[in-house]
Amino acid sequence: MPDEGIAIRRMRYSDLQSVMEIERDSFKMPWSEYCFSNVLKDSDSYAVVAESDGTVVGYAVSVICTDRIYIANLAVRNTRRRRGIGSRLLKVLLEHGHKLGKGKVSLTVRVSNRGAISLYERFGFRITGLRKGYYSDGESALIMERPIFLEVTKPTAGKDEKKDHLRVSRSV
Ligand SMILES: CC(C)(COP(=O)(O)OP(=O)(O)OC[C@H]1O[C@@H](n2cnc3c(N)ncnc32)[C@H](O)[C@@H]1OP(=O)(O)O)[C@@H](O)C(=O)NCCC(=O)NCCS
Repeated sequence: MPDEGIAIRRMRYSDLQSVMEIERDSFKMPWSEYCFSNVLKDSDSYAVVAESDGTVVGYAVSVICTDRIYIANLAVRNTRRRRGIGSRLLKVLLEHGHKLGKGKVSLTVRVSNRGAISLYERFGFRITGLRKGYYSDGESALIMERPIFLEVTKPTAGKDEKKDHLRVSRSV
């Protein structure tokens, strides 16, 4: 069921305690708070949170590169997963990259992370490479990519759907 009343906004320093709770709960090798602070200082990074009733329930970070954006982090509080929040965060990063005129989006994901891989495939990402032993615990990473702009191909797509070139995850 979609999570109602979610607002997406830029991440602030005051969010870092909640962000760190989610980060530690979500990843084997969590980013440090220092790392998130650097993201907030860095003009080549873009970080957003999903907020529900004043509580941070997820976040996403992209890094702006010359020709593309790189999805550097994405997580949703474990009690709020499978309600569309991860999709909304990802979409906001794609829209931001598109506004900046970037052509492509890429990311790395643990080969064992079936849930995240499913989400990315649903958004039209394709596996383009494998980095063996990429993580410090020895697990390999898949490289996944897609163009920022993906044309809607479904012939029955409604008018609004055709206009919204980024909302193609279920149509490709
Ligand atoms: C990956 C993650 C961000 C997804 O967030 P979410 O809010 O649950 O994602 P959504 O609800 O938008 O999922 C959209 C679709 O993606 C797919 N998907 C998401 N999580 C899935 C899972 N665990 N298993 C299978 N498919 C999944 C499904 O197709 C889902 O649609 P459905 O719920 O209608 O079946 C979340 O599981 C998470 O925080 N995981 C831990 C951190 C992590 O692994 N981040 C990614 C690092 S690369």
